[in-house]
Amino acid sequence: MLIVANWKAYIEDLAKAKKLFALGKRLSSAAGISIVLAPPAPFLGILAAKNKSAVTFAAQDVSRTTGGANTGEVPAQAYAAVGATYAIVGHSERRATGDTDAIVAEKLAHALVNGLTPILCVGERERDGEGRYLAVIREELTVAIESLTPKERAKVIIAYEPLWAIGKTADAAIEPDDLGEMVLYIRKVLAELLPGKSSRGALVLYGGSAEPDNIRALAASTSVDGFLIGHASVDPHSFSLLVKNLS
Ligand code: PGA
Repeated sequence: MLIVANWKAYIEDLAKAKKLFALGKRLSSAAGISIVLAPPAPFLGILAAKNKSAVTFAAQDVSRTTGGANTGEVPAQAYAAVGATYAIVGHSERRATGDTDAIVAEKLAHALVNGLTPILCVGERERDGEGRYLAVIREELTVAIESLTPKERAKVIIAYEPLWAIGKTADAAIEPDDLGEMVLYIRKVLAELLPGKSSRGALVLYGGSAEPDNIRALAASTSVDGFLIGHASVDPHSFSLLVKNLS
């Protein structure tokens, strides 16, 4: 199981970042769990420089540009240079500030060229009775992936994050049956987009109010490969319990 801790902007203080990193290192010894931390950019550089553990790091986003006169942008290459292994791309909180499917595709390409494994977020805003949300997921996956080479496509990790479930509590998260169905649907679309049989090895994660109370049920009755955890990953008690409940 892959657990990606998306700290978002919850952590603004280096001392807190260091404490959560220490916790992540302890928890990474739990059986069958790989922990990836996605801290705010400056903290990623500081923590990764001292890392000798099994914990790995993800950028929360990468720039769509590769350098040049772009004040405030952080290119994928810079994240790779300070020790990131993964890059979250297309998170709904980035899409809300203007990342279109086309921009997400550019970001994916930059991440891959710089050796980062992208974690592509897809998710519908709401669920309708006619299954239109399935078309939203298909479109987001297709536009993001179709411009990549076959070899690159096989490297992308998918995080299914329905917008309606993000930042709430376990009782508002997705039901295990609905998640199970969506994971199968994503695998079906990937089978069409990825070369040969490579979609069989593709990782599909879930994010959106995954908490200690629901994590086990979500993992047990679906073929999900891991979780992208937001608010519960920055509370040491919740994060410990969540990993314990999963392992
Ligand atoms: P949440 O966030 O766990 O706080 O719902 C998940 C995410 O947005 O990645």
